[in-house]
Amino acid sequence: MWRVLVTDEMKLGPTEGLPAVVDYRPGLPREEILAAIPEYDALITRSRTQVDAELLARAERLKVIGRGGVGVDNIDLEAASRRGILVVNVPEANTRSAAELAFGLLIAAARGLALSDRKIRAGEWDRKFLGAELMGKTLGIIGLGRIGGQVARFAKGFEMRVLAYDPYIPRSRAEKLGVELLDELEELLRRAHFLTVHTPLTEETRGMIGRRELYLLPRGAVVVNAARGGIIQEDALLEVLEEGHLFAAGLDVFAEEPPGKDHPLVQHPRVVHTAHLGANTLEAQRRVGEEVLKRVIAALEGEIVYAINAGFDPEAFRALKGFVPLGERLGRLLAQITRGRVQAVEVAFFGEFAADPEPVATAVAKGLLERVLSEGINLIAARPLLRERGIRLAVRKEAEAEGYTQLVEVRLTTDSEERTARGTVIGGHPRLVGVDGYGLESVLEGTLLVCKNFDRPGVVGRVGTLLGEAGVNIAGMQLGRDRPGGKALFVLSVDERPGPEVVGALEALELIERVDVAEL
Ligand code: NAD
Ligand code: MLT
Repeated sequence: MWRVLVTDEMKLGPTEGLPAVVDYRPGLPREEILAAIPEYDALITRSRTQVDAELLARAERLKVIGRGGVGVDNIDLEAASRRGILVVNVPEANTRSAAELAFGLLIAAARGLALSDRKIRAGEWDRKFLGAELMGKTLGIIGLGRIGGQVARFAKGFEMRVLAYDPYIPRSRAEKLGVELLDELEELLRRAHFLTVHTPLTEETRGMIGRRELYLLPRGAVVVNAARGGIIQEDALLEVLEEGHLFAAGLDVFAEEPPGKDHPLVQHPRVVHTAHLGANTLEAQRRVGEEVLKRVIAALEGEIVYAINAGFDPEAFRALKGFVPLGERLGRLLAQITRGRVQAVEVAFFGEFAADPEPVATAVAKGLLERVLSEGINLIAARPLLRERGIRLAVRKEAEAEGYTQLVEVRLTTDSEERTARGTVIGGHPRLVGVDGYGLESVLEGTLLVCKNFDRPGVVGRVGTLLGEAGVNIAGMQLGRDRPGGKALFVLSVDERPGPEVVGALEALELIERVDVAEL
């Protein structure tokens, strides 16, 4: 019999007859989880339990982690993969409940529901509060995935105009939902009377809504976060509420949970809260519990299940040596330096490879998508997810590789431009050997600045001085140009990511055409 430990609240359904003993211990303190985990073959959690490297190091028998819900940001996927532990989730099981709660918060914030309730309990019959009607107003949705899409459908029922910002979905999805998809977040913010976020918490979305963004909203706007704490900066939200620019806010999530009763947002009269209850309905918890247990048992029994971190054939990986990580990094690089909505990607292989290089193209797809999806992504899921997003992937194989034994070239086409990056593996390490047709040889790790400029004396020096003044240390520089005095491109490897104001100042320098930053 397998042993399964469940450490968070959910409705599992009947467990008799299963080839497993299921210990349902929701709310188990961390110390006790750490002590118990060596005995278990599977662990099922929601967002409360931190499944980190410390816990996994003790999980001697663990084979499967089941996440009852969407986000796997509480699970160290790297550490789990390294230990060969499969991670399965049930991303669609709580979509409806999470969307309903987000919409509930929107109405509660707009109509002062919690405030009025508190006043009545205190004996005050206050009818002065004037709320805001939804009909005819504009709702801005950041992240038009499962939950964002459902919120859009609800908003249509309330006769709202719906705008969305999500650079990673095909236009057809927005068209089907009757939503206006915008290319610029700023435009959405300027037009939205109501704003709701439905993205995962990633490097890109952490703190994406700060003071500047909140002030772009029309005066009197209402803001909701039922996705993840930290996407909207809490100090900025408080400040903009207190200055009276925002009318109200609804929050289901905090950067640190629980936030504590002295948290200034908790005490703010115009903020209505719920305690990360998006998925907490009987229906969602039944779907989540039954489905996650079914998937965990199937994985334990050796059935093929959709696992977030499922690996690839170790033989092919070994034969391709560093080319799989090279593909992933080229995808990651282009995803960050190419502007516009991604439409197509082409991966060209030049030269003879020790095994069929297809997994390298899959790794490119993974690199392109991994910064934008909630559930994390593996090599098995990468191509279907790319197709789902309407992005075409083509693979081309050529016999000759100019100047190198093997080369991989990735061409990314968006609705506004096309960029290419070429790479190879030298001494087992991925190297960047060209960008947009300019030959160069650079590391493909850490933080890179890709700058396009006119080849004139002093340009690179001015960039170096500006970065030095901003406290950004340059670790390496590689330059490529078409001809002396013509156009050029250089790649700087830097020790820390320069802020947007530094990138703006670099782009404002004479003879610099553009600067893009990528973290690998
Ligand atoms: P999803 O993957 O279906 O959708 C996320 C969408 O965000 C995708 O379409 C993606 O393209 C988009 N996105 C990613 N980065 C973006 C960016 N920088 N700018 C704009 N859009 C971006 O996920 P989902 O199931 O809709 O869940 C969304 C979020 O809600 C997740 O973080 C999840 O953990 C959270 N969630 C919270 C609760 C709760 O209890 N409060 C319940 C369920 C889910
Ligand atoms: C999720 O990501 O599914 C949610 O945060 C729900 C939860 O774990 O309660």
